[in-house]
Amino acid sequence: MFKNCLIIAASIILFACDSSEPASNSAHTESPEKTILDEHCRHCHVPPLPSAHSVDEWYNVVYRMQKHRLKRGLQTLTDEEFDLVVSYLKQRAEK
Ligand code: HEC
Repeated sequence: MFKNCLIIAASIILFACDSSEPASNSAHTESPEKTILDEHCRHCHVPPLPSAHSVDEWYNVVYRMQKHRLKRGLQTLTDEEFDLVVSYLKQRAEK
């Protein structure tokens, strides 16, 4: 009986350790912003990694993409979507 309790306690501790690991090592994490990025970049190309540009550059890159959207006759991102995408990319960009 005591041994069983130890095994259960050990598996709870192991489980707890496991769940404290990051979900993934990828530069992207699942979030509403990531969904927007997927939806709004895949029209034309694979969404870039946040590390592709620095914090200072992302605003201008995404702004340029708005112009590409206009040229293709796609609706531009709303101000809210634009800000979400830019802040998502900046937070994960190379510093
Ligand atoms: C309407 C089409 C279109 C959409 C939508 C689009 N892109 Fe682009 N993207 C382009 C084109 C065309 C190029 C190549 C010319 C250029 O760099 O401006 C490009 C190139 C890029 C590049 C590589 C050039 C560089 O400056 O590093 C990045 C990064 C990029 N896009 C980011 C994004 C992100 C982030 C989104 C989504 C928010 C997005 N794009 C959505 C058309 C698009």
